[in-house]
Amino acid sequence: MSVSHIGLLCSGGDAPGMNCAIRAVVRTAIYNGIEVTGIKRGYAGLLRGEFQPMNLSSVGNIIQRGGTILQTSRSPEFMKPEFRKKAVEILRAQKIDALIIIGGDGSFNGAMAMWNEHQYPVLGIPGTIDNDISGTEYTIGFDTAVQTAIEAIDRIRDTAHSHGRTFLVEVMGRNSSSIALKVGVCTGAENILLPHDKVVHKKLVDDIQRGMARGKDSSIIIVAEGPVAGRSYDIQNVLKDLYHMDAHVSILGHIQRGGSPTADDRFIASQMGNLAVQALIEDKFPTVTVVQGGKVLLNDMQNCVTKADHNFTEFQKLAETLSI
Ligand code: F6P
Repeated sequence: MSVSHIGLLCSGGDAPGMNCAIRAVVRTAIYNGIEVTGIKRGYAGLLRGEFQPMNLSSVGNIIQRGGTILQTSRSPEFMKPEFRKKAVEILRAQKIDALIIIGGDGSFNGAMAMWNEHQYPVLGIPGTIDNDISGTEYTIGFDTAVQTAIEAIDRIRDTAHSHGRTFLVEVMGRNSSSIALKVGVCTGAENILLPHDKVVHKKLVDDIQRGMARGKDSSIIIVAEGPVAGRSYDIQNVLKDLYHMDAHVSILGHIQRGGSPTADDRFIASQMGNLAVQALIEDKFPTVTVVQGGKVLLNDMQNCVTKADHNFTEFQKLAETLSI
């Protein structure tokens, strides 16, 4: 296939660095004489025909901006074959030869099905702060989310120190441990509670009290949010009711999804956007741009359609050891 017209959309939760990838796709495509149509608001926008022609200046001055200029959505209807069929018909009617999807494993599932059911060429760029996609060590947005959480927790530490308080700080990531582990180590957290950890409240209390006894004046416990945000309040209640220990809860929430992308996110997203277009030119689809061994490469999309928890539990131990 010779590709002359690419469609581009973002899907799922936004992530800082998506704009860098959009810019890299558009500029690389135009450099190679390929037309790009931006599709607004993800698969939902595709089904509604929300198209926007992209040119060199449509991606000017966006490399530093968080979010996504194309906007995004979660589109449950795309799980159904009839909607994917309609989407392919719409793309073919627009003479769009291939679709690049910036998103997570759910978005790649929809794309993979478009290929399997209709042989429609698709290519994925991993974008989610959760860093939870199989087949890649890294997803765009993770580094920025971690940096944002670290800055927030450093502030919380200031006030925790001043008042001699314990804080339960809940970070995003749903079932992924990645944000919690890295943030925990980098903020000197006293404990990290992973998404599926059964919380041993007694140990938590013992650890906090041991620290206070040796002269610590604050404790920060990082709580990975797990399937439903807000589990920190349950932990807070148990600490209070059973152990008469006061802990403050701070749920960082969507602050972690916004903001200007870090250098790592800009750099990786730029390489991925560039490689995505090269791959389509060379008929290498359905694939996903991934990081493996620190390098940006292609992987078969089928290897990237499930969730992976890069759960390096040794970092949990590291945080505890270093904050003893
Ligand atoms: O997948 C990214 C993410 O930010 C998760 O960390 C979080 O659990 C979820 O999205 C929140 O989703 P929403 O923005 O739809 O509430």
